[in-house]
Amino acid sequence: MSRIATRLWAGMMALVLAVLVLMWLFQIVFLERFYNDLRIAGLERAMVRVAGDIGAVLGGGAPSSAELAALTETLDRAAHDEGATLEWMDTAGDTVYTSDDSTGRGPSQAAWAGIRLDAFRKVLDGKTSRNAMTHPRFGGQYLLVGVPIFLEKRVAGALLVTMPLSAVQETADILKRQLFLLSILMSAVAFVLALALARTFSKPIRTITAAARRIAAGSYDTMVRVRNRDEIGQLAQTLEEMARELSRTESLRREFVANVSHELRTPLTLIQGQAESLRDLDRDPVEKKNRRIAVILDETRRLNHMVEEMLDLSRLQAGTLPLERTRFAIPALAFRVVDRFRSLAESQGCTLTFRFDPEEGRDGTVQADEEKIQQVLYNLVQNALQHVGPDGRVDVRARAAGQEVLVEVADNGPGIPPEALPRIWDRFYKGEPSGDGRRKGIGLGLAIAREILSAHDARYGVDSRPGAGTTFWFVLPAA
Ligand SMILES: Nc1ncnc2c1ncn2[C@@H]1O[C@H](COP(=O)(O)OP(=O)(O)OP(=O)(O)O)[C@@H](O)[C@H]1O
Ligand SMILES: [Mg+2]
Repeated sequence: MSRIATRLWAGMMALVLAVLVLMWLFQIVFLERFYNDLRIAGLERAMVRVAGDIGAVLGGGAPSSAELAALTETLDRAAHDEGATLEWMDTAGDTVYTSDDSTGRGPSQAAWAGIRLDAFRKVLDGKTSRNAMTHPRFGGQYLLVGVPIFLEKRVAGALLVTMPLSAVQETADILKRQLFLLSILMSAVAFVLALALARTFSKPIRTITAAARRIAAGSYDTMVRVRNRDEIGQLAQTLEEMARELSRTESLRREFVANVSHELRTPLTLIQGQAESLRDLDRDPVEKKNRRIAVILDETRRLNHMVEEMLDLSRLQAGTLPLERTRFAIPALAFRVVDRFRSLAESQGCTLTFRFDPEEGRDGTVQADEEKIQQVLYNLVQNALQHVGPDGRVDVRARAAGQEVLVEVADNGPGIPPEALPRIWDRFYKGEPSGDGRRKGIGLGLAIAREILSAHDARYGVDSRPGAGTTFWFVLPAA
């Protein structure tokens, strides 16, 4: 049995045993005291009543024989009801009445003459006395209760009652036997139940542990076979989800490495080829040499750009590039980016514009990481310029609307086919290669933009109609 099961089982057994011990304590050890107290209190009440009756009869002058007979009847009944021997003595200590004691249960009067005398004296002082004693021959417990009989506030006699306390002993004995059986039965049932319960608890945990080990060893398709619908079931489910997530990450990582190697190979091959030609064909005309050097420089730049983008992306994803939020105006930033691309746009023969629509005096200030938002805008404008042909248009628009600032980059290029739309934000997604076979980019620009915008909790998206153009947009909360 596993340790958790053992602990569960031991805990449950301890609980049951504690309950049993408490039951023993209360039923057996304290029972006698409870019972005696109740019994004695009841007896005393009854005797005080009887003493009152006697006082009432004596108070009415010399009692008639009918009155005496009625009194005897009352005393007999009280003795019978309480299971006690009753004795009425006058102040001189002479017995006026004694209940029928043919059962002989009480000890002989001689055996406890001393105690009786004590009790009698106390009663003559007007007090109630209570003494316990053990039967000198048979060892049973007896109780002697003395109650004064009052006549006009003076003590006119004593009522002594002897009662055996053995009834409690008997009850306790019966209870003890019952409890003994009950304890054995309960322990047995608890043993089995606790064992079963502990097993049901620990089994799924062991299953989960085994599954976690398999996942750690790399089998991400591990199924955690637990049928529980409780928290343990949820744990199993979470573990399966974690394994799926791990396997996704793992395949993404593999894909990333494959993509990177692929992307690096092309420029490296080109550089190597051109460099080798430069070395081997040194009788090439100068222009040709310069062309080769230009290719080498171009591809080196491309490699640089690629490595930078990859570094940026991995830092962004690892969260090691924390956001440095400052307050800045989106229009000024957008204007700077557009300005940077102006000469490129002119050389391509396309129009690049920027417009800001303020609303009710809002100036488009946001609280964000300025450098990163600039990079997003840079990537979007670069993409747009890459995709519009000559005579194309690229319009950058900023709009302060309510609590938000909206930024749009719209072009009238070829658009993006609907089936490609969900994938353009993926790493290394580059769309279909166009006529010239090879694109300038490596497909990380939008992935970087997505990371940055997600880190800002910004909404972003793209609307595109093939043939009509594309609009990328994002929204930042106004500061
Ligand atoms: N304005 C646009 N019009 C049409 N297609 C676009 C536009 N912007 C992006 N795309 C498509 O989305 C793909 C991914 O863009 P992304 O910016 O991530 O990579 P890239 O531009 O190819 O390379 P990089 O930006 O890393 O240099 C592009 O290759 C292109 O197919
Ligand atoms: Mg790009």
